[in-house]
Amino acid sequence: MSTIFSGIQPSGTLTIGNYVGAIRQFVELQNSHNCFFCIVDEHAVTVPQERLKLRDNIRSLAAIYLASGIDPNKSTLFIQSEVPAHTQLGWMMQSISYMGELERMTQFKDKSEGKEAVSSALFTYPSLMAADILLYNTDLVPVGDDQKQHLELTRDLAQRFNNRFLDVFTVPEISIPKVGARIMSLQEPTKKMSKSDENAKASIFMLDDPKKIEKKIKSAVTDSEGIVKYDKENKPGVSNLLDIHAVFSGETIEELERKYEGKGYGDFKQGVADAIINVLKPIQDRYYEILDSALLDQILDQGAEKASLVANKTIQKAKKAMGLGRVK
Ligand code: TYM
Repeated sequence: MSTIFSGIQPSGTLTIGNYVGAIRQFVELQNSHNCFFCIVDEHAVTVPQERLKLRDNIRSLAAIYLASGIDPNKSTLFIQSEVPAHTQLGWMMQSISYMGELERMTQFKDKSEGKEAVSSALFTYPSLMAADILLYNTDLVPVGDDQKQHLELTRDLAQRFNNRFLDVFTVPEISIPKVGARIMSLQEPTKKMSKSDENAKASIFMLDDPKKIEKKIKSAVTDSEGIVKYDKENKPGVSNLLDIHAVFSGETIEELERKYEGKGYGDFKQGVADAIINVLKPIQDRYYEILDSALLDQILDQGAEKASLVANKTIQKAKKAMGLGRVK
């Protein structure tokens, strides 16, 4: 059975972009793969975080994973900082990463642009991400489109390590969903929907109540044409809503274009909102049941233990390959 690894940062409430690009794929894939899903809190602290808020976000993300359908009997769910092997291999990966290739990362450029104090960890973030993936002999990494560049670097680092030292790492493939790989902002549909967008109207959060979802979809930017048609270049707002509708209702874009032919954006937007609410409402109900349960802690404890077993084996191999420590 092939192995899957993916992670999400606990840096705020998840958006439907995270759901569509990541979690929805995870729930499907766990039925046929050996899966590791991680709450990457060490990645979150590469930018300033309020400590109590971070704690809440970690727990909340664990509950969202489970409420969305991640089954601890099928998948290993754990917190990155509870498995020290991640930072250990992260250091080794930094040692073989070049400044030039890290400087080319668009996520680093976006996140550091115009900021006065940029942490060195934000710069070396992709080396830690490579470590996350490579620790588990991962074959496939399901992510949204924005992580493609990081994945290409991960593949380069794995190959570089294998060539320079010993053949330790599996070179992972990337898996990006066909529809919804990049859900866009509702207010600026040429920009990615993001957990950290300052304009709350731009994103639908997974814990938004139905009224809020309706309101945000109704105020989403479209155009003055009044025709529901997929055309990313000329109609980015409508195309984004079509993507969202398709993913949440399971209909194809063509079916939806036909369904809303001759109807205005009012009906269309109501359809988009209803499709989202139908999927999110049951997830939200489960989320509030799980959030404060002792079961959640048990699952995370077991997850960290299971992940450590695999990760520590890889660390031993990687240390040996690099000549670190003593022969035992
Ligand atoms: P993060 O926390 O920003 O996002 C988590 C996942 O959600 C996807 N995503 C989206 N997909 C579609 N449309 C969007 N608007 C959208 N926004 C986010 C992301 O592509 C991602 O799959 N660096 C990673 C976290 C990470 C990781 C890893 C991922 C750390 N180590 C190892 C995979 C493997 C990140 O910042 O994701």
